Amino acid sequence: MNFLALLLMAIPSPVHVVLVVTLLSTLAPTSANVEGDALYALRRAAKDPENVLESWDPTLVDPCTWFHVTCDGDNRVTRLDLGNAKLSGSLVPELGKLERLQYLELYMNNLVGSIPEEVGGLKSLVSLDLYHNNLTGSIPASLSKLSNLKFLRLNSNRLSGRIPRQLTKLGNLKILDVSNNDLCGTIPTSGSFTRLSEESFTNNSRLEGPELMGFVRYDTGGCK
Ligand SMILES: *[C@@H]1O[C@H](CO)[C@@H](O)[C@H](O)[C@H]1NC(C)=O
Ligand SMILES: *[C@@H]1O[C@H](CO)[C@@H](O)[C@H](O)[C@H]1NC(C)=O
Repeated sequence: MNFLALLLMAIPSPVHVVLVVTLLSTLAPTSANVEGDALYALRRAAKDPENVLESWDPTLVDPCTWFHVTCDGDNRVTRLDLGNAKLSGSLVPELGKLERLQYLELYMNNLVGSIPEEVGGLKSLVSLDLYHNNLTGSIPASLSKLSNLKFLRLNSNRLSGRIPRQLTKLGNLKILDVSNNDLCGTIPTSGSFTRLSEESFTNNSRLEGPELMGFVRYDTGGCK
């Protein structure tokens, strides 16, 4: 007879249920669904009039069977494809936990609020597409940590503040589009930005430049 059975015999029955539940929850392997929880945080923060997130069931062991989510062979999330999905609401810092995410596609929705600094923790990210939303606040300098990033499209939002100079360190950057926002300061021209054309930056009425290295300082230019 095992320890649990002996224990149950020694204790009056109403206590059994509580005891068994407590023991099971202690002994059961913790089914950590960190990535599912992170995505579910996005579902909770979003308004979803077309129910595109209906299949996002947080009780499943991982989010790999959810619509609009793609995983790799280790059941880790690599893509989130929610462009043009009529979502509103805001982005959540939990998204930064998706360590293997390569494609974050949330373009053409009506997302509000700022881009969480934690997005800079998505070290596998290749493509960050947040264009055509209603995002405000500044472009987080933390995005400069995304060393694999090739496509950064933040155009047609209401982003303000300076373009973080650190973004010029993104060595793999092929396409940057921050046009149609409310950015200010000067346009950095060094590093990977030397390959970009002015079209990447058009229609930011307070943005000046491109900055002339050595002549115009980065921190000059109307930016309140
Ligand atoms: C963006 O959000 C503001 C309120 O924060 C709202 O007034 C405006 O209509 C929104 N723009 C679009 C295109 O939905
Ligand atoms: C400039 O950007 C703003 C903000 O995204 C947008 O509302 C406006 O239509 C754009 N203007 C042009 C001429 O594209």
